[in-house]
Amino acid sequence: MKKILHLICSPRGQASESYRLSQKILGHLLDSQPTATVIVRPIGGAVANLDESYATALGGTERSFAELFAEGSMSRSEELIQELESADFVVIATPMHNFTVPVALKFWIDHVVRVRRTFNVTAQGKLGALRDRPVFVAVSSGGRFSRERTHQPDFLTPYLKAILGTIGLHDLTFFSVEGSGPNAVAAARTKVDQEMQRFFLGFARDSAAA
Ligand SMILES: Cc1cc2nc3c(=O)[nH]c(=O)nc-3n(C[C@H](O)[C@H](O)[C@H](O)COP(=O)(O)O)c2cc1C
Repeated sequence: MKKILHLICSPRGQASESYRLSQKILGHLLDSQPTATVIVRPIGGAVANLDESYATALGGTERSFAELFAEGSMSRSEELIQELESADFVVIATPMHNFTVPVALKFWIDHVVRVRRTFNVTAQGKLGALRDRPVFVAVSSGGRFSRERTHQPDFLTPYLKAILGTIGLHDLTFFSVEGSGPNAVAAARTKVDQEMQRFFLGFARDSAAA
C-alpha cells in the first residue's frame, strides 16, 4: 500500500492557509491513489532544535552512531528519516517566513539531511542516498514571490530544491497561494485550483500508465 507523508509546518497548524492548500493536493493524490495511507507529521513548533551530541556527531566524532542513536536528536533524526524513506509521496505544507522556510521546516531538514545517512560526500560533491519520489510543496505567503510584479526575493523555492536534491529528492512540484486580504487570497486560491486541476490530470494519466 502506498504511503503519503504530510508535513505541516505552519505554527498555525490546521488553521493555516498552507495546510488548506496541502489538503487540496492530498485530495488529488488520493483520487489517483485511493488506497494510500497518509502519515500526518505536524512539525510547526513540534520538532525540537538540535542538541549538542547530534551537532558533534555530524562534525566528526569518536563515538559510534549506534551509541548516539539512543540519544536525543540522533534518535529523532533516525525516526524522521525512516518515516521519509517509507513514503511514496511527500506533501509539505509551509508558509514563507522572511523570504524562506519557517524555522520548524528548517529543524526537520536539519534532522533528515544527515551526512553518511541520507547523503554522502564524494569527489563529485554531495550525493543523495534516498530514492527519488514525488514531493509536493504547498506554499502560502503574504505577498507575491513568483511570477511577475514581485517585490521580494524568494529563497524558499531554490533552497528546498537544493537541499532536498542533496538527499536525492529531485521530483518537486510547487503550488502557492500568494497574497493577503480576502480578495487577493480568493483570487490566488482560484488560480492555484486551476493549476492543480491541469497538473493532476497529467499526473493521474501517468500514474495509471505506470
Ligand atoms: C514570522 C513571519 C514572517 C513572514 N515573512 C513573510 C515573507 O517574507 N514574505 C511573505 O510574503 N509573507 C511573509 N509572512 C506572511 C505569511 O507567509 C502569510 O501570512 C502566510 O499566508 C501564512 O501562511 P500559513 O497560514 O500557512 O501559516 C510572514 C509571516 C510570519 C509570521
